[in-house]
Amino acid sequence: MTGGTGFIGSHTVVELQQAGYQVVIVDDLSNSKVDVIDAIEKITGIRPEFANFDLSDRAKTLAFFLKNSDVKAVIHFAAFKAVGESVTKPLEYYRNNVNSLLNILESMKLSGVSSLVFSSSCTVYGQPKQLPVTESTPRLPAESPYGNTKAINEDIIRDFCHAEPSIKGLALRYFNPIGAHPSALIGESPVGVPNNLVPYITQTAAGLRKELSIFGNDYNTPDGTPIRDYIDVVDLAKAHVVAIKRLLEGKNKANYEFFNIGTGRGLSVLELVNAFMKSTGVNLPYKIVGRRAGDIEKIWADTSLANNELGWKAVVPIEETLLNAWKWEKNVRNLK
Ligand code: WQD
Repeated sequence: MTGGTGFIGSHTVVELQQAGYQVVIVDDLSNSKVDVIDAIEKITGIRPEFANFDLSDRAKTLAFFLKNSDVKAVIHFAAFKAVGESVTKPLEYYRNNVNSLLNILESMKLSGVSSLVFSSSCTVYGQPKQLPVTESTPRLPAESPYGNTKAINEDIIRDFCHAEPSIKGLALRYFNPIGAHPSALIGESPVGVPNNLVPYITQTAAGLRKELSIFGNDYNTPDGTPIRDYIDVVDLAKAHVVAIKRLLEGKNKANYEFFNIGTGRGLSVLELVNAFMKSTGVNLPYKIVGRRAGDIEKIWADTSLANNELGWKAVVPIEETLLNAWKWEKNVRNLK
């Protein structure tokens, strides 16, 4: 698995190990810490193997695959993922996110690895005209170079799998991943000031930030704040286990498939803030400020294809997800 010491990757390692899979993590630690591996071992009792190198290095990537000939499948998370940063540093984003995938696909072919699950994003839909979003909803030009690398990488996988029928690809289009493992031993650890809503909320609740700024309440939504489909990270991790199983057991219906992975429920920023306060009992200071550039107004998923085809459904209630996020934050800050 690439990016296995990251937020979604680490939770997926736990679920894969608990489902009986042997996992080797490849990560360059550019946006995560190696002590996540100790935490994974604490949760599952199994220490994943770890290879520390940059997947955008073609020679190192090929050497890894040729050396690890028992690898059967790849889950590819590793990517730069800060939307705002991608706007100011587009070449770094295209070089890292696209070259890494090209190296992985080339190495899979040369070393006989058959299956790839790719971490994609609902960002490929832009601001959809119709809601909820299904897999037939047309992709729209991405709002950022980051989002564009997700769309480009989906197309690269599609074309490669069509050219190499022995290789099967499956993209999971995540909506908004949030929360933390119930053990509070792994969770989201943004570097610096969090861009995303939930880590900013938990850091505000922990007293690291003065107050949450809500970016705009003049949208065309019931309470004026933007709507998203927030999905629990453990539910999301479990979707990767069923996706890998589908490919390894040859249950895929085409050699490239993609699925929306969300809850099917839209929540506004204010609704999420209120759910956090209700589930944790913490009063969260916030103020309404201007809109954030690049934000879309509303998006949530139609998840019937994943529910019916993958037999997967999000089950963790939002209050539990937010409570787990808060428990993780308190653990990280040694708060009671
Ligand atoms: C959610 C809502 C903000 C912070 C991004 C990426 C997407 C995916 C998930 C990787 C928005 C509001 C936020 C804050 C706020 N990432 N907000 N105050 O932008 O929906 O999606 O992360 O795959 O690709 O685009 O997530 O958490 O940044 O924002 O009001 O301090 O919270 O305006 O409405 P987003 P987010």
